[in-house]
Amino acid sequence: MKIMIAEHAGFCYGVKKAIDETEKLLKSSGHAKVLGALIHNPLEVERLKKMGLEVINKTSEASREQVIIRSHGAGKNTFEALEKNSNEIKNCTCPYVSKIHRIVNDYYGQKYGIIIIGDSKHPEVIGINGWCGDTATIINSEEEANQLEISKPMCIVGQTTFNTILWDKIINILRSKSNQVVVHNTICDATTKRQQAARELASQVDKMIVIGGKNSSNSKKLYEICREICTFTYFVESSDELPYDEFAGDIKLGITAGASTPDWVIQEIINKFMKAR
Ligand code: F3S
Repeated sequence: MKIMIAEHAGFCYGVKKAIDETEKLLKSSGHAKVLGALIHNPLEVERLKKMGLEVINKTSEASREQVIIRSHGAGKNTFEALEKNSNEIKNCTCPYVSKIHRIVNDYYGQKYGIIIIGDSKHPEVIGINGWCGDTATIINSEEEANQLEISKPMCIVGQTTFNTILWDKIINILRSKSNQVVVHNTICDATTKRQQAARELASQVDKMIVIGGKNSSNSKKLYEICREICTFTYFVESSDELPYDEFAGDIKLGITAGASTPDWVIQEIINKFMKAR
C-alpha cells in the first residue's frame, strides 16, 4: 500500500492560532471559558477540557471572567453582551472571519442588503449575520440562488469554508439577476488550497480517507469533494472508525483532513496503517 497525504491537510492558520492562545491561557491560569466548542473537533476539545477549558453556550454563563471567542467568531450583540457582563474578551476570531464582519457591518451601514452564501446553522454564518442585525439572506445552493429576487443593492459574502466551485456557480446566477450586487469572495485561502489539493489527490488514488469532526462543516465539504472524484472515500473522526480490512492489497491510499483536525489524530491513523503493513 502506498499512502499519500494531501498538501494543506489539517489545522489551518486560524484554528492553530485559537488553540495556541487557548493553551497559553490554560497553562497560565488553569481555567478558561469558551463560548461554544472552540473548534469542531470533539477529540481536540476533550483534550483541552482536561487542561481546564470550560465550554459555555450563553453569554449569561460568564460574569467578570475571561471568555474566549472561538475562531468562528460571533455577532456584534454577543461582544456587547459580554462587555456588559464585565467579561474580559479573549478574541480568537480568525482574521479572515473578522474581515467578513467588517465588510458586512460597513455595507449594512450603507443600507445595502446582505447575502451570505453558506450554511445558515453554522456558527460562523450566525456570527456574520450578527453584524447586520440578523437581516441577511442566507443561501446554500444553486436552487436557492435561482429563487432569489434582488430588488436593491446587495453585498454578497461567503462562509470561509464554502465549496469554491459551487461559489462560482451561485455567483454567476446572482450576477445574472442584478447589476446591483457587490461580491466579496471571502472563502479563505487555506480552504481553497485544501480543497484543491484534496481534489488532485482524490483523482490519483484508489481509496481516500477524509479525517474530521462529524460536526465540522469544512471536513464534510472535503468529503463531498473527494467522494465526487473517488467513489471509495471514507469520512472518519478517529482511527477507531476505519474498516482496516477494506484497505488490503496493493492500493494507493490518499489522506486529507479538515481545518480543525489535529496532527495527532492524522498521525494515529497513519501509524495504524503502517503497523498493519
Ligand atoms: Fe480561518 Fe480559514 Fe481556518 S477562515 S479558521 S484560516 S479555515
